[in-house]
Amino acid sequence: MKLIAANWKMHKTPSEAREYVNKFLELYEAKQGREVLICPPFTSLCAVQETLEGSEIKLGAQNCYYEKEGAFTGEVSLKFLKELGCSYVIVGHSERRHIFGESDEIINKKVVACLEEGIRPIICVGEKLEEREAGITFKVIENQLRLALSGVENYTDRVDIAYEPVWAIGTGMPATPQDAVAVHRFIRDLIKVLNPESGMNFRVLYGGSVKPDNAKEFTKYREIDGFLVGGASLKPETFIEIVNAFKDVN
Ligand code: 13P
Repeated sequence: MKLIAANWKMHKTPSEAREYVNKFLELYEAKQGREVLICPPFTSLCAVQETLEGSEIKLGAQNCYYEKEGAFTGEVSLKFLKELGCSYVIVGHSERRHIFGESDEIINKKVVACLEEGIRPIICVGEKLEEREAGITFKVIENQLRLALSGVENYTDRVDIAYEPVWAIGTGMPATPQDAVAVHRFIRDLIKVLNPESGMNFRVLYGGSVKPDNAKEFTKYREIDGFLVGGASLKPETFIEIVNAFKDVN
């Protein structure tokens, strides 16, 4: 099942979120073989959850903390997110890693906490421009994935991975589908090596300047199991076009 996820980042108040979801539901047509997810900021989770009520569209958060509760001012635990109806959490997004200094160790703790709570993490990995230019893209991805999943067993049916090259995020310059496919294959092969006994029910999403006019090209490749969309998910009219790029794909 393909997964098309909207990461709104720090956009949309509760009232703006309600307005968006109402419009999106008017445009949305349920189809076999694809799952749609909306990840608003924490403060709009309730509004989105209430507006989505009765639809099959899923709700996710953009971040979490790994402790269950306690003296952690400003943090949000998975238990809180679960009660609000979140079934997914984005973990280790490039902006968390590079703006907020989130380490691989913290990302690993968050992945473990998600799995313990029964929330599906979307683990983000991706190389910086200088790393791509230095020819170490696969090495960087392997390192990020090994560390994010260290000590975790039998996870292949309970996580998804998003490949988001840092240089493609918010720049209007996506990876070519061929470059994305090469990394997606690498990720799939690596996870098979790390988890030889497990199923292969995880998805590898592409993220980074996905737009209505380039989405269709990516969907031609079976290695692209979906998208994680930032800027182009902020308008229902553009996000629906990206969702519909997977219309005929199973
Ligand atoms: P853009 O689609 O705005 O490039 O952002 C991608 C992203 O970071 C999604 O998580």
